[in-house]
Amino acid sequence: MARSPALAFLFEDNSARLAAVPPVPVWDLGVRVFHGLLILAVSVCAATGFIASRDWLGLHLLGGEIVIGLVVFRLVWGQSGSTYARFSTFHASWAAISAHVHEIARGERRPHLGHNPVGAAMVLALLVFLAGLVGTGVWALGGVLKQGPLAFLASYTSGLTARSIHNLLAIGILALVGLHLAGVAFESLRVRQNLTRSMITGRKPGPDDEAEPRHSARPLRALLAMALVAGLVVPGTVALSARPGLGVPAGATDPAYARECGACHFAYPASLATQAVWHSLMNGLDAHFGENASLDAAQTASIASYLDLNAAEHFDTLASHSFRLMNPGDPMRLTASPGWTRLHRSIAESVFTTRAVGGKGACNACHQDGATGRFDPQRISIPKEALN
Ligand code: HEC
Ligand code: HEC
Repeated sequence: MARSPALAFLFEDNSARLAAVPPVPVWDLGVRVFHGLLILAVSVCAATGFIASRDWLGLHLLGGEIVIGLVVFRLVWGQSGSTYARFSTFHASWAAISAHVHEIARGERRPHLGHNPVGAAMVLALLVFLAGLVGTGVWALGGVLKQGPLAFLASYTSGLTARSIHNLLAIGILALVGLHLAGVAFESLRVRQNLTRSMITGRKPGPDDEAEPRHSARPLRALLAMALVAGLVVPGTVALSARPGLGVPAGATDPAYARECGACHFAYPASLATQAVWHSLMNGLDAHFGENASLDAAQTASIASYLDLNAAEHFDTLASHSFRLMNPGDPMRLTASPGWTRLHRSIAESVFTTRAVGGKGACNACHQDGATGRFDPQRISIPKEALN
């Protein structure tokens, strides 16, 4: 049977040749620990991100912080690690990649001690995608949830765009990881070496056929560089995160409003509804959802003007954007709006009617920060009694 040269490597027996060469150290401790921790951190981010429950946001963010820390470490280690950790041994130019592909097509099987050109390009692409994921994640966190170092700068709409890009990059990274695994499997088969094991033991059968100039690892230099980056980035991030979020309600609730409009139910933050909704509500207090909630003229005017100045149009939070479109059949009820219904679709109707909650409008039964108008996902907890 005629064998295609491209697949000839599958039939060659080079085990005798490889057995004769003692394994040599290739992947230093820095590369291997980086690789192991990155798998862990990316898995945590993927699991918490794709399942997308708001309950897991904290773990998702922690995973992202570890990922960016690891990416920075890898960039530093690419300048200060031992020979094959260094980017100077990554031959990922188009010319090198095309030469490598042609080599495979001709059926040659020259093993590489470091990354082969396609492998090197893959490592760089993964690092770029991971940095992009963290960048868009931080922007989305700032714009949509008004949290983190970009909360003071990122608008809600730009945050939504960043979130879409983040989601695309997340799918992209899954695809890259799949290609990476396929590439490792293919190359292991082609050069008859267990490359996965090499990434754990750090050793590969030598010798090298590309004469790379030798470098020894410079851990102290790497440590200093990491300390320098951390010394700038960590306090910077903390300081930026402490700045007031763009378009987040910050003023105190008007005491007359809290007293009068909080007498029968939760005093809804003014930023939850538009001026038009507040106008209609304030103009119909004598027939307020079947109750007479009317106030004297002076109080009505003062509360109306407070609501007007603090209505949703003045803010940029997720909560202030979510209920701008009201249900025409029930135009003054926030909890009838399509936005509210969508945000709460995962909660059974029966949960709201329990005594522990006390109705859909009892926002503060589940949102510990409801009174501030923020509605952070980390501050949600449905009362236990309501869940039995
Ligand atoms: C006498 C009691 C009473 C007072 C005072 C009162 N409300 Fe209400 N309010 C109600 C009732 C009852 C409902 C309907 C609740 C339901 O159906 O779940 C309601 C519903 C609402 C809703 C819709 C909540 C939702 O489910 O989306 C808003 C907004 C609202 N009130 C605003 C106000 C404002 C503003 C004031 C002050 C001017 C005020 N209320 C004062 C009794 C009152
Ligand atoms: C029974 C508990 C409960 C009540 C009552 C409730 N919520 Fe929620 N709310 C939740 C839960 C749980 C989520 C998250 C849902 C999810 O992740 O699928 C949520 C999500 C939200 C979000 C989105 C938070 C984010 O950052 O993603 C907003 C805004 C919000 N609720 C506003 C309100 C308002 C306004 C009210 C009152 C009119 C209200 N909620 C009443 C439980 C409740």
